[in-house]
Amino acid sequence: MRRILLAAALLAALLPLGTAAPSWAALNAAAPSWAARAEAAFAKLPLAPTPPMGWSSWNKFRCNITEDLIKQTADAMITSGMKDAGYVYVNIDDCWMAATRDANGDFQPDPVRFPGGIKALADYVHARGLKLGIYSSAGTKTCQGRPASLGHEQADARKFAEWEVDLLKYDNCNDAGVPAIERFTTMAEALAATGRPIVYSICEWGANKPWEWAGALGHYWRTTGDIADRWGSMVAIVDQQAGLEKFSGPNAWNDPDMLEVGNGGMTETEYRSHLSLWALLNAPLIAGNDVRTMSATTKDMLTNPEIIAIDQDWAGIQGHKISDNGDLEVWAKPLSGGGAAVVLFNRGPVGAEVATTAADLGLKAWTGYRVRDVWAGADTYTLGKVRASVPAHGSRMFVVKPGLPGKVPPAVAADVRTDTEGFVRGGQTFTATVRFSVDGLPPVRDAEVTLAVPEGWSVRATGRTRAPVVVPGRPFSAAFEVTVPETAGKGVFGLTAQVTAHGGRQLTGYGSVAIAQAPQGDQWLSDLDALTADVGFGTMGRDVNVSGKPIKIAGVAYAKGLAPHAASEVRYFLDRRCTRFTAEVGVDDGTNRRGSVTFQVLGDERRELAATGVIRGGEPAILIDVDVTDVLVLTLVTGIGPDNNNSDHSIWGSPRIVCAG
Ligand code: GLA
Repeated sequence: MRRILLAAALLAALLPLGTAAPSWAALNAAAPSWAARAEAAFAKLPLAPTPPMGWSSWNKFRCNITEDLIKQTADAMITSGMKDAGYVYVNIDDCWMAATRDANGDFQPDPVRFPGGIKALADYVHARGLKLGIYSSAGTKTCQGRPASLGHEQADARKFAEWEVDLLKYDNCNDAGVPAIERFTTMAEALAATGRPIVYSICEWGANKPWEWAGALGHYWRTTGDIADRWGSMVAIVDQQAGLEKFSGPNAWNDPDMLEVGNGGMTETEYRSHLSLWALLNAPLIAGNDVRTMSATTKDMLTNPEIIAIDQDWAGIQGHKISDNGDLEVWAKPLSGGGAAVVLFNRGPVGAEVATTAADLGLKAWTGYRVRDVWAGADTYTLGKVRASVPAHGSRMFVVKPGLPGKVPPAVAADVRTDTEGFVRGGQTFTATVRFSVDGLPPVRDAEVTLAVPEGWSVRATGRTRAPVVVPGRPFSAAFEVTVPETAGKGVFGLTAQVTAHGGRQLTGYGSVAIAQAPQGDQWLSDLDALTADVGFGTMGRDVNVSGKPIKIAGVAYAKGLAPHAASEVRYFLDRRCTRFTAEVGVDDGTNRRGSVTFQVLGDERRELAATGVIRGGEPAILIDVDVTDVLVLTLVTGIGPDNNNSDHSIWGSPRIVCAG
């Protein structure tokens, strides 16, 4: 009864009248109402009071999986400390099944790769205190073309229960035109009917707003297409989480997809951002690397107890973005103990200070706050400001709580700014100012500031670099004259401040300037070097598609064009010299009408200048024509559309920029 009441309450919260209920009724007028079926399916057990943690074979191994891999991974989960850290599900993703069903029409495992069968694997995993997850698709075939469960839901769920499986990831490929809610509800009912507690992971890619209905059926649901082991992909997924926080809670979590930490496609700094944000979003933490051979750094990242504690906080309140200043974002999450977790996120290509306050984090007014740096494992004390210098693509993650200073040192920050707009030329002399702020008590004594510049550049302090004492509200600034060598080539160059203070305390501040080619007259963007190009796969094609072939959209050839695989973000230095940008955008014909992408043109501070809806493979190009007067840096973004990033070969055809000569 309690469960039914809970279900009703959940449904009432998730399904405001006029959204999902009428469309279900319209789809299937003769059947019991969708609400009634979903309520019944919500015999869903409360198996995920906190976001599930485990491992999955997909991100690293794709179809190259065997029972030995699964067993070795289970062993490695134990020896590496992953299990003790909370990672308990060992999930076999796509490709475990034989190419055909057996004579009874039942699922059977691939006889070569899984000769011992799934039940034996479940026994192996269970004997080690772990749980086994399996995969199917709510379609006629899985995404890799294997047998799948549409029309076989009851039999397949019974098989999973018979094999003593503990989790089902249910995918969305080859849907035969059946609406998603119907397909995913049928499996929820089939799982419930088995009587076995099976966590139900709904992998619908966010295509039909699953956050509005999947909570009644499953324990977590994918909110987006597939992650790739790329910075651009990870950040594009983060962008799609904004606003979804209200749909998440115990036993019903938003899933921004499995972790790529340790797979090699991002830097350590980027992987820390990935994990910090996933923890802040209450994401299921499903590692996707080879845990048998992972480095100590990867293991330490994945098993960091403080990051995991934030993800698993029993209050179960998902974090959200509280400020967005171009490339600098602040994400915050209320914690059960009255504190807040915060991620200071720098998605840009240069180091910068990211700042917020205890009040903006939603904390009660108090004399001061303890600030725990969860990656560094160190505490400081602030009177209210929470800030840090964050390197490019980096994050700093803190837990902030009202508290007393005790014996911890004051919170401090070192910010590096220049009197340029971030761009310089060979031979130029500019001023870099390091501002050292103290945000807590006691005051800091004997602070000394130095600035390191790239090799061959010169730097000279133009004033004091030592301060006998620095107090809150009175930052100390040290100015440096920096000269760029005449011969300096293009690139982003770090300006790194070091502050040392009484007692040997050390602090780093990250600044940078870039040297870039300014456009002259009218040009094709593909003839210019991009400042940065983050793409979802491979490298960006210039005047050729991602496979190196001529560019074509819906039969129209483009001699000039940019071909970044979505999700992508490509930046060009315009130097405020240009007035107009035009391009014809679409999906490259090389995908054979597959793929779906979106396009967005951003000015400075990520101001949106133009955006398209979803454009699918085979559809004619759309003309983008925007005024770019006074834009310093132009950012071209492509998104992955409503499904995954397969075949998302986005094209900016004839990308023309009109600039001063
Ligand atoms: C889809 C899913 C992925 C993975 C693959 C397997 O793309 O979104 O997470 O399961 O299928 O084929």
